[in-house]
Amino acid sequence: MHGLWDATVERLASLDRRDRIAFWNAKRFLCFQLAKLLDNLQNPLRKSWQSLATERGAAQRGPYAVFDNVTAIFSSTPVIARTATYLYACTEWIDDAFQGKELLHEIYSRLMNPTSTCLANYIVDVEAGPLAGEYFAWNFNSGMAAIDAVLAHLVGYRDIVLSSRNVYGGAHQPLQDWYGKRSNLDVAVRFFDGTGVSDFEAALARVRAEQKERLAQGRHVYVYLESPCNPHGYVLDVPGICRAAHAAGLEVICDATVGTPFLQPVLRRDDPAERPDFVVHSYTKDLVGTGTTTAGVAIARNERMFLPKGSSVEAPGVDGRPRTFDWSDTLFWNVYYVKGAFLDADKAFEVINGMRTLELRMLQKCISTATLARALARHPAIRVNCNAVPANENAGLRERLMYLGLTAPLFTIEPQVPIAAFKRFFDCLEPAFGLQVSLGQVNTVVLCPALTSHSELSSEALGAAGISPTTIRIAVGDEDPRALLAHFVRASELALDPAQPGFSAAFPSPDEIDALYREIYLDTHRRHVEALPKMAELLR
Ligand SMILES: Cc1ncc(COP(=O)(O)O)c(C=O)c1O
Repeated sequence: MHGLWDATVERLASLDRRDRIAFWNAKRFLCFQLAKLLDNLQNPLRKSWQSLATERGAAQRGPYAVFDNVTAIFSSTPVIARTATYLYACTEWIDDAFQGKELLHEIYSRLMNPTSTCLANYIVDVEAGPLAGEYFAWNFNSGMAAIDAVLAHLVGYRDIVLSSRNVYGGAHQPLQDWYGKRSNLDVAVRFFDGTGVSDFEAALARVRAEQKERLAQGRHVYVYLESPCNPHGYVLDVPGICRAAHAAGLEVICDATVGTPFLQPVLRRDDPAERPDFVVHSYTKDLVGTGTTTAGVAIARNERMFLPKGSSVEAPGVDGRPRTFDWSDTLFWNVYYVKGAFLDADKAFEVINGMRTLELRMLQKCISTATLARALARHPAIRVNCNAVPANENAGLRERLMYLGLTAPLFTIEPQVPIAAFKRFFDCLEPAFGLQVSLGQVNTVVLCPALTSHSELSSEALGAAGISPTTIRIAVGDEDPRALLAHFVRASELALDPAQPGFSAAFPSPDEIDALYREIYLDTHRRHVEALPKMAELLR
């Protein structure tokens, strides 16, 4: 084994590195040859198996899967490893595995599984790009399980969480009702309004003054951000807030679900101080894109996620200065290993499949969102909360921080109509708009946040979050936005005109909507193609 490894390393060292394509292909070929060797070496083993295990009980014993799993290495899509448990070679092998020192052996699928690991590596590549080598991911059964795992990992008894205001109701709930509960962790949960660094800094100063006693007892403040945030799709100044939080010695968790790494790659910042310490995604939304599963992920630097038992490493802390990270402080040993929210192989495969079309889907969704929002904003009795509308308070941050300045496919509208007519109108939105909870689906879905996603918030908190009883959240899908607008106009004729005569006549004309769609579509594609690497760069 050691001889083979030495021979491989020696051979690699002798390869010509000048051409990266040739170097990759040479290494790839070497790996294929090693797999072939493994497959051939198993032939004598198969013979012994046949002589020993094919008499009585062969059916119950099942196939010895290793023989045929080796060729599965060459499957062109990740293999769905549907297994609860794994074969181990000997006692020493399993002992090492339990210490986190034998990564080839996955032990038990609640802890690790090759298909889930494949997805974890894939999301790190997509999220961190050239920095992928520095980051690591753990997948979970749902986005909420990922959020809870990160909170459970960091937040301790009587700590303080300072969170951005407009977070998903499901995240608000555990923060307030579980972490904040006196008989649980008695965490002080505080929220800050606004999206900028000054909003955050002012709130931090207030929290520090208010929580003097806890801070004097050595309790910590953790920062929780959601960007773009529910329900209006507004963008937070994530790099700026991270810089300010890190300068104050605080760790930052960021739920970046709504933008996906395509629009808002929060880890791809040159300055490490501008990157959140933990990034969370609900795969359930646009990452999988098909609405066929629930799943989630937490991403952080390697040393925060996994170290072999008993080991420690030195790496930059939140303030950039070197700090020792111990194995017992990694998310794996502290939380993952002792809880059971692992993502199984079938769901991981589903997410991998969906993610492959992420860029195409997101581009179209952003075009559709801008078209819908800007068309609806031209109606005098519809208030539109969307940063695609040029005069919107959040347009500047969207322009500065999102890929090509695009708008995430989530926004809200408030038709200024009587509540009874509003309810009739809302129910008429089917079938063009799905009356469904969730976001990031293939079809466009609508809900009333006050009644659903944000129903956990008190009426004061709803008011502070800019949500009224007639607020409709639109989570844009892959359709032609004009088909959605046509249905919207028809539903207005049916349900709103009787209560508010002339409502449906105040939408922009069909020609205006066609022109708006064409302008946004062409402009986005032109900017996208210009942002892509030029041929001369690709040839370099
Ligand atoms: C922004 C955001 N984060 C997290 C979640 C939770 O994800 P999941 O439904 O996969 O648990 C949601 C769910 O709607 C969400 O909108």
